[in-house]
Amino acid sequence: MSSAPVLPDGWTLVALDSVGSTNDEAARLADAGAAEGTVVWAREQTGGRGRRGRHWSSPVGNLYSSTILRPDCSAPRAAELGFVAALAVADIVPIDRAVRVKWPNDVLVDGGKVAGILLESAIAQTGRVEHVVAGIGINVGFAPQLPEMRYPGASLGGSVEAALEKFTKALAARLGEWRRDGFETVRAAWLAKAGPIGTEVDVRLGEELVSGRFAGLDREGALLLDTTSGPRKIVSGELLGRAA
Ligand code: BTN
Repeated sequence: MSSAPVLPDGWTLVALDSVGSTNDEAARLADAGAAEGTVVWAREQTGGRGRRGRHWSSPVGNLYSSTILRPDCSAPRAAELGFVAALAVADIVPIDRAVRVKWPNDVLVDGGKVAGILLESAIAQTGRVEHVVAGIGINVGFAPQLPEMRYPGASLGGSVEAALEKFTKALAARLGEWRRDGFETVRAAWLAKAGPIGTEVDVRLGEELVSGRFAGLDREGALLLDTTSGPRKIVSGELLGRAA
């Protein structure tokens, strides 16, 4: 595809050749009043950021985009949008590939990480969300294999422009679902694409490593684990391995 990507009705594309981080550019635009559905897309990032302060390798060939959202919700509920975005990525995976979501916001294709999601929110003093920047990196042309990666990468194939079109369309649809039906519907859809209940998993919580069996997702998006010392609810952590 060589023409400019077409975004959902009412959405606006800010297309850049190169930027430090699309998340930073989107936050700047959001602070200046840019509307929900403003999408910053760059061919490459020179300072791409991942979760937990990690670097996100961002040479030309993959998709780097950040979408401004104005969800009008309380700060804790903003985290639900990570599950919304993960489902939107899963929605664009070709049907002949095996897709699985992994807590909290990863998407695996044929067992390899195909996308990463970095949500960054601005919260008003009232506790309401001013905006959320949903930063999404999707491997399209190639799968980076870097020493710091804990499991292999995967890529979708096709063009970056087509991936951006499909992803924004899927994101608009999943956002509509979230607004209309609430997190319960999103949670059920996410669980349907997650690893099986009962799978043995390890979760890193800072210095602590917790092992247990995957027991689902609670109504706020926390990971539920059955451990040998009883049930545990994990609000923030990093799931190791490929399951759930
Ligand atoms: C992760 O650690 O898995 C999240 C990676 C998020 C990367 C995307 S690429 C577009 C946006 N801009 C950034 O600097 N990061 C996000």
